[in-house]
Amino acid sequence: MAGDTVSQIKERLDVVDLVGSKVQLRQAGRNFKGLCPFHTEKTPSFVVFPESQSYHCFGCGKSGDIFSFMMDTENLDFGDTLKQLAQRANVEITSVAARDPERDAHRERLIELNERAGSFFSSVLWTSALGEPARALLERRGVDRQTAERFGLGFAPDSFDALRNHLLRRGDVDQDVLLEAGLQSKNDSGRVYDRFRNRVMFPIRERSGRTIGFGARALGDEMPKYLNSPQTPIFNKSDALYAVDRAEEAIRRERTLVVVEGYMDAIAAHQFGFSNVVASMGTALTSQQVGSIRRYVDRVFLALDADAAGQMATLRAIDSVRESFSDESAPTVGADTLVRFERALAAEVRIVLLEGGKDPDELIRSDPDTWRRALDRAIPLVEYVLNIKLRDIERTPAARAKALREDVVPVLREINDQAILAHYVGVVARLLEYKDTDVRAALRAGRSQGARAVQVQERPAAGDPERHLVQLLLQYPLTTTAQDEAVQTINLDDVLDARNREILRVIIAGESLNETMESLPDEIAQY
Ligand code: UTP
Ligand code: MN
Repeated sequence: MAGDTVSQIKERLDVVDLVGSKVQLRQAGRNFKGLCPFHTEKTPSFVVFPESQSYHCFGCGKSGDIFSFMMDTENLDFGDTLKQLAQRANVEITSVAARDPERDAHRERLIELNERAGSFFSSVLWTSALGEPARALLERRGVDRQTAERFGLGFAPDSFDALRNHLLRRGDVDQDVLLEAGLQSKNDSGRVYDRFRNRVMFPIRERSGRTIGFGARALGDEMPKYLNSPQTPIFNKSDALYAVDRAEEAIRRERTLVVVEGYMDAIAAHQFGFSNVVASMGTALTSQQVGSIRRYVDRVFLALDADAAGQMATLRAIDSVRESFSDESAPTVGADTLVRFERALAAEVRIVLLEGGKDPDELIRSDPDTWRRALDRAIPLVEYVLNIKLRDIERTPAARAKALREDVVPVLREINDQAILAHYVGVVARLLEYKDTDVRAALRAGRSQGARAVQVQERPAAGDPERHLVQLLLQYPLTTTAQDEAVQTINLDDVLDARNREILRVIIAGESLNETMESLPDEIAQY
């Protein structure tokens, strides 16, 4: 339905990206600001809030989300805005009004070809003598027949045209479509040939179970080990999650998602009854991949290698940065971004450490209980990040102080929950041999640096109660639980002034005030 499309689009597009493509934005604390596109101004009073995915101009009062932004800046009606944003987000529009029947039919056709190719590969694997080496590989790797069939595994024969001949036989397919479906490749001299040859085929399916692409494993150590479908109108590797079709039911039931890296890892997990496991296919996990299932999930487990490279991969694994298709792109993701991503997912992220350099496939097959224990012992993301960052620092006072300031404070400041924060203050104090109060002081120091931008007037203005309250709260930050609870009783809908409302929202949410103040236009910051 249209509503569904809207929320899918909102999951995939970021207000900062979208607005940033039209307005020059500068980061200010947690938010971004720039010159308002809706009225003429010389100093920026237009603020974009990533967390609520909204914007507000403190000058002219315009506010809204990605949809209203497009409608207002491009002068479009809702239907056209939906179309444009859907295209940008690579979301299929399911509402009747905005549907593009031609595009839908074309995608259908590409999916159908991939499905037909999958059937062909399966029949080669199971019914042809040509499939023998692939059957042997699966047997050697312990993949049983039932599991192989559930995952639709197959074999692409060692031929440049076997698949093409098979698919062209029906007479209703032309060569160009095979190319577009990602089933054929074209060389420099324009010759077109079967892309997948002499490889074990792993169909990659969308949630509904339809095949949108393939991973194809070499039989021996030919390179690349896996050849995947190219990006096509139906396949984008950084959107797809391998095995999500087989895992969805268990994910919803257990409200838990387990992410491994490889095709073989996911298959082994399912064969042994761990049905909520999906594979990120070796790339950094993107928010688009998790996007569509995150609302069913309370916990995300990331299972990656225990070696150093694996740990770095883990730091990159939860990648809130929109990634291009290229596997080479290595977006830099700070620890604070990871923690922010965890909050955006609204799920608890835990890291599963795999000891002894074994991958999940080997671990599960050698002893499913070891895998179960590894999941039980998974470490909360923040703890993992802090451990890695602090493990190897020098024990000198200067190095410890620097680590506290640069590695710890940015991470801790992303934690909203006071109880959780208190826990990690303790963890850091232990790791760095400080007192809890020292860590708290470092957190405050970071805060007051930014707070220099806030110039609170000596005496609150009389007459305007809202303004008075806000000024008091800015001047005397909350220090006790009782104060905190009192503030929680404020109903934001009762606050008339948008600026007061925004400042109070931040205070109530327990977010860092100085960052908000930095992000506010100067006139409001000098409240
Ligand atoms: P692995 O090398 O761990 O593969 O890469 P694997 O699935 O465990 O396979 P086996 O056990 O060696 O047979 C992890 C994942 O990275 C992607 C694939 O999705 C793979 O499953 N990958 C790896 C590629 O896409 N291309 C490659 O060349 C290698
Ligand atoms: Mn493996």
